[in-house]
Amino acid sequence: QVQVLVAIDGPSGSGKSTVAKEIARRLDLGYLDTGAMYRAVAWWAMQQNVDWADTHAVVAAAQDAPVEISTDPDRQFVRVGDTNVTEAIRTPEVTSHVSSVATVPAAREVLVARQRGIIADSGRRMVAEGRDITTVVAPDAEVRILMVASEEARMQRRGAQLGGSQNAEALRAQVVGRDAKDSTVVNFSTAADGVITLDNSDLNLEQSVQAVMDLVLRAV
Ligand code: C5P
Repeated sequence: QVQVLVAIDGPSGSGKSTVAKEIARRLDLGYLDTGAMYRAVAWWAMQQNVDWADTHAVVAAAQDAPVEISTDPDRQFVRVGDTNVTEAIRTPEVTSHVSSVATVPAAREVLVARQRGIIADSGRRMVAEGRDITTVVAPDAEVRILMVASEEARMQRRGAQLGGSQNAEALRAQVVGRDAKDSTVVNFSTAADGVITLDNSDLNLEQSVQAVMDLVLRAV
């Protein structure tokens, strides 16, 4: 069993979720999808008809939403209270509102604290991915990677993930528009000191996994 905490950040469509999950499987580590936590809070806030302009209400939603997230890479689910929201948090509606949670600093603080708790509970044997893992949530991780890819590659991947059901404009809004909003509060376009940038525009999934695996095995 390897004892390692791997932090991976990157924009949407960079492939970080798929790669992170696969690394966790191969090394028998936990997997934390922090984006799913922001999505679950956005889902909950929508159920509560929270006014997105009311930042206090958004922070309250982050505090009160009873989010439970699986850290098993082979059995991913997210629950909010008794409701399984695993699929509901991936809808375009939730996706379009999630930045309204993510851009409220006090809401981020709530989720960051929870993420640190989940990482500690894993005994720091985990692959955690998001936008601020390498810089805020776990800057002390043994392996820190910023995974990037060209806009073209990212749009293509996200489009394929959604089964080709979205037109190019809607897709661009989801990928590029969301990154632009998110970038106002977290920097995931340039690597912080000590963070390794991995550009996987021209790599397939297995090559991306291998590149990360090499970095992890070098660190343990
Ligand atoms: O990774 P994913 O696309 O599921 O993330 C959804 C949203 O959650 C992002 O667009 C961003 O607004 C927010 N997020 C964040 N910080 C993280 C992870 C996700 O702000 N660490």
